[in-house]
Amino acid sequence: MSKSVFVKTYGCQMNVYDSARMQDVLAPLGYGIVETAEEADLVILNTCHIREKAVEKVYSELGRYRDLKAARGGNMTIAVAGCVGQAEGEEITRRMKSVDLVFGPQTYHRLPELLKQREDTGLAVVEIEFAVDDKFKGLAREQVRQPSSRSVTAFLTIQEGCDKFCTFCVVPYTRGAEFSRAPAQIVEEARKLADQGVRELTLLGQNVNAYHSGSATLASLITELSQIGGIHRIRYMTSHPRDMSDDLIEAHGANPKLMPYLHLPIQSGSDRVLKAMNRGHTTDQYLKLIDRIRAAQPRIAMTSDFIVGFPGETDQEFEETLQLVRDVNYAGAYSFKYSPRPGTPAATRDDQIPETVKNERLVRLQALLTGQQAAFYQSCVGQTLTVLLEKSGRQKGQLIGRSPYLQSVHVEAPESLIGSFIEAQILSVGPNSLSGQYVSLTPNGGHLI
Ligand code: SAH
Ligand code: SF4
Ligand code: F3S
Repeated sequence: MSKSVFVKTYGCQMNVYDSARMQDVLAPLGYGIVETAEEADLVILNTCHIREKAVEKVYSELGRYRDLKAARGGNMTIAVAGCVGQAEGEEITRRMKSVDLVFGPQTYHRLPELLKQREDTGLAVVEIEFAVDDKFKGLAREQVRQPSSRSVTAFLTIQEGCDKFCTFCVVPYTRGAEFSRAPAQIVEEARKLADQGVRELTLLGQNVNAYHSGSATLASLITELSQIGGIHRIRYMTSHPRDMSDDLIEAHGANPKLMPYLHLPIQSGSDRVLKAMNRGHTTDQYLKLIDRIRAAQPRIAMTSDFIVGFPGETDQEFEETLQLVRDVNYAGAYSFKYSPRPGTPAATRDDQIPETVKNERLVRLQALLTGQQAAFYQSCVGQTLTVLLEKSGRQKGQLIGRSPYLQSVHVEAPESLIGSFIEAQILSVGPNSLSGQYVSLTPNGGHLI
């Protein structure tokens, strides 16, 4: 009998990857993928715990599923996966009686067994122990990749977890200790993706540049993955400034498959705040690092994350963040108001910043960052960029692809070109995208190997 599963994903790219793997482990049990909770026998909420609002969204969504389940006489299974599952555990089944299963990022490969346990015992199952076995070995070897999600780009998790314990962050508690997958396992997965038509790989890790396995580093892994014929573009995220090694910086200048884009979060421009955050580097070290990266690859687009209103942040310290942004000149960045997370050291400090101050600071920082992004996008007008066409756009005849700098590019081109690399002359800038004109096909994605 065929069953159906709907997975709703919040949070970072790694959750997107995990959701796809959950679908893979369920496929042998006869679960087909559906696009709405209304059609599903099993609903999985893959959650994020990084900021407060994320948790609230989960509970309101769970309320909706509870009603849906009641309307069907209880004939529906509700599972909470991901970082909220890991952090809240039994609290979720206490607060929401309709939830059947709770598990975390390190236990989802055991989903079939957890579902069976639920069926056999009739009791809610909470499984949030950090597994000692290799999760990745336990995951289905074949990725199902439904036609709807079949794409020329893919995420590939190579590293997971974090040992850095920034004082604001839940990730070390929800994802667990740093772990790097073996290179052979990663290469095998990449080859399969290439065989399925993937042309651009984004290597994922909470601290992706801390990747190490035996003598392999992120740089050596990228070199190895570059040998796979079908893969023409490689990206990685998220990097930590402390782990930007010389070989990786060099690779940005030497490897044409490694895209000229780097997300390198600093969080604050104040050395005192960076220290209180336990980031392990100063602004001066970060700026020098950026100089070296730009020397290796002058075209590189730099982006970052920022937190405003970390406990104790003064007006002057916030001004230092603005100054750092001016000094670096980013191609884009994400910025957030500090959100106290349960169990993290900064949450219990008694010098929390009032919400109104956080709001004012966020508005000012975002205005500056938006201006820098607009200037960067504007600087692309008139250039001819290589674009990997990914999908159809909203308007008829329009396709959407990505530039080397991870910008969305809209062009008019025939649908048969989805999956191809083209040269596009950039004509104008939209709110979060570029518009270009098709010039020609790029031979072999622009690469000889
Ligand atoms: N591993 C990455 C980031 C992971 S979380 C790194 O080290 O940079 C993604 C972003 O969420 C962080 O860069 C940070 O800017 C933001 N973030 C994390 N915890 C937060 C909190 N408690 N409040 C507000 N923003 C937070
Ligand atoms: Fe969180 Fe810091 Fe680890 Fe990034 S490096 S995941 S911000 S603890
Ligand atoms: Fe969120 Fe967990 Fe990713 S907290 S950002 S889903 S690692």
